[in-house]
Amino acid sequence: MAAPPPLHLEDTMAGPEPGTRLATLEDLRKKGAQDITFRSGDHQVRIFLIVHGDEILAYENRCPHAGTPLNLYGPDFFNQSGKLLLCRTHGALFEPTDGQCRRGPCKGQYLRRIAIDIDGDSIVSA
Ligand code: FES
Repeated sequence: MAAPPPLHLEDTMAGPEPGTRLATLEDLRKKGAQDITFRSGDHQVRIFLIVHGDEILAYENRCPHAGTPLNLYGPDFFNQSGKLLLCRTHGALFEPTDGQCRRGPCKGQYLRRIAIDIDGDSIVSA
């Protein structure tokens, strides 16, 4: 199974237009990960940004198993080793580089990548 194409936030019911600042590089590098929720009327879209090595990546914060946010009970997205993303609802583990579930009830499925760009010192929606 191949990873689905990145989702552009403007194509969701609540996402911002392209070029909207999501975070600063400095702040994200300090935190390691950050979740953001966009709301519009009854709609919302939740995403999270991560630093993984030299890469900045963004995913929809929605587990492909049951649809809950990965960080349901707190601010952490990585497992104890810091190598894999962890869904705290039922323990699925995901590869940070492509979002594929390596172990757990949704093995082989993917987190939905979010299209982002780097603009100077900011991470922006693409
Ligand atoms: S909702 Fe993520 S593992 Fe079940």
